Order: sequence, then C-alpha cells, then structure tokens
Amino acid sequence: MPPLVAPSILAADFGNLQRDCELVNNSKADWFHIDVMDGQFVPNISFGPPVIKAIQGIATKPLDVHLMIVDPDRYLDLFIELGASILTVHIEVCNHLHRSLSYIRSKRVKAGVAINPHTDVKSLSSIITEVDLICIMGVNPGFGGQKFINSTYLKVQEAKNLIEKKSAPTLIEIDGGVTEHNAEKLVTLGADVLVAGSFVFSANNPYKAINTLKELE
Ligand code: DX5
Ligand code: ZN
Repeated sequence: MPPLVAPSILAADFGNLQRDCELVNNSKADWFHIDVMDGQFVPNISFGPPVIKAIQGIATKPLDVHLMIVDPDRYLDLFIELGASILTVHIEVCNHLHRSLSYIRSKRVKAGVAINPHTDVKSLSSIITEVDLICIMGVNPGFGGQKFINSTYLKVQEAKNLIEKKSAPTLIEIDGGVTEHNAEKLVTLGADVLVAGSFVFSANNPYKAINTLKELE
C-alpha cells in the first residue's frame, strides 16, 4: 500500500500560505501536517491558533496537528476546536499519557504520540492499543530541513513488531528528514505515513515530490 503523505506546512512560504495550502489540496497528498512549537519543549517557536485557523479555512484534507509544547493538556480543547483530525502529543511531556489520549479520543479525534530520537519504542508497549498513530521523529524536533537520524529505521521495525504483537490499529508516522533517499526503506519497514517538509516545499516541483512518495509500495 502506498503511504499516506503529509506535507509539513512549517516548510511552506508563509507569505504565500494560501497558495501553498491550495497546492496541498490539489496534490495527491493526504493530510496537512501542522507543527506547533512553543520555544520551551523545543528551541523554536512556529505558529499558533490564528495561522491554524487560516489553514483550516483553506484545507480540504485532514489536519494532522503535532504539538511540540510542554503540558499539552492545557491546549487540547483549543486544537480540537481548530479542526484537528489527528492530534499528537509528545510522550516526553505527558505525565498522564493515558488520560491525554483518552481525552482526545473522547472528542472523536485521532490520538497520536510522538517520540523523540532518544525515546525507546518500548515506552509505548503498555499503551499502544490506545494510540491511533505513533509519530517517530527522524530528527530532534524543532526545525525543518535537518538530516535524518539513521537509528530511526530500527525504531520503525520495533514499532511495527509491537503493533502486530498487540494487534493494535496504530499507524506509524515518520516525521523529520524524510526524502526520496530514505522513504522507500521506511515504507518497507512499516511506515504508514510520511511527513515531508523541505522535501516537498523546497522542490522545484512540489507535486512531483509528493508523487514520488505516493508511488512507494
Ligand atoms: C520537526 C517537525 C517536522 C518538520 C519536518 O520538528 O516536527 O514536522 O517540519 O520537516 P523536514 O521534512 O524538512 O525535516
Ligand atoms: Zn512535525
């Protein structure tokens, strides 16, 4: 099965946000990936509710919202109201992950958990059946355009094994450093969703870049 592809709006041209959102609408991409950074959990600040509201007004595809913020429970309602279809929190900042995920699901939104490069896939073993999506970071979160960390491959395999062992419905998403050079291997190992920022928006032809990822089996 070809992967789902989620272009990361962080890499879009914010002076032409409408144009770049329409590009995603008109492409074969599946979701909008939306990176929210607070300058505390990660060393960068991206954008917040007003920008997401603008994206939501243009997008004709689901919003995959990736919260890179401390204490995300404070803002779950806000991002649900802004139209998130998938809402992902980082395990590293959730003291009561089961509660956070249950809350997201109770609002009929898909619940995701992101893990940093240093975080073991095993840390999800007791909760995997409650998770709709594991977001495995291929880079240290905070910035687009970084180099893919090769130890991510092993984590994809481990996540796939864990999901199969527990017969969980969880999707595996890879976020950070995804390019044409690693995408095929990631999909072969079990990735279901590929997030791609600079690979799509820095390409001469973003439609073609998206197609390259969509053509993988
Ligand atoms: C990193 C973000 C990623 C980023 C991906 O902190 O979570 O979603 O935008 O960008 P690329 O594909 O350029 O690594
Ligand atoms: Zn992201």
